[in-house]
Amino acid sequence: MLYLSSVVLVAVWTSLFCFTPVQGSCPAGWEHHDESCYEFVTKEQTWINAEVDCIRHGARLAKIQSDDENEFLREYLSNNSRQYNGYDMWLGAKKRSDGGWGWGDGSTLADDDYDDWQTGNPDNPDLGVCLEFESGFNNHWNDDFCDELNYYICQRPFHPLTPPPPPTELIG
Ligand SMILES: *[C@@H]1O[C@H](CO)[C@@H](O)[C@H](O)[C@H]1NC(C)=O
Repeated sequence: MLYLSSVVLVAVWTSLFCFTPVQGSCPAGWEHHDESCYEFVTKEQTWINAEVDCIRHGARLAKIQSDDENEFLREYLSNNSRQYNGYDMWLGAKKRSDGGWGWGDGSTLADDDYDDWQTGNPDNPDLGVCLEFESGFNNHWNDDFCDELNYYICQRPFHPLTPPPPPTELIG
């Protein structure tokens, strides 16, 4: 009897977590794309306050790593232009004290990484500048002072949960 119920439990676990992908989800009001959820926040904040707000929601300011991701975000803004047209959107990179660019998670935005800088940018010689989609540049990338007040885009994982241990470990 115990043996039979173990078999049933293992079969259920296997069908849930092996034969179908673990279901991800996005919180209400967030947009799903690939392995991420994005929130397009219509509050005007400095870059650091935007980052803190994203962190409070289990997210960071968006870290764009491919043309596909960049174009998804730009297309969303263009599709919803009534809300976003004329507003610059903070993204997750900031100029570091050594003059290079880095993302909020500590990784580098290196010269050979994907970027979508508007031609001639970044062009601000100062420190204290952060990455934004610049509405005046058709939402290509621009460097602007981090204490400007902008809307912003938060990003969090679509699959925040790893599957639970198989039931054999619970039974054993
Ligand atoms: C933009 O709108 C088009 C047409 O409705 C739709 O197919 C596309 O998925 C939308 N893109 C985004 C990123 O929401």
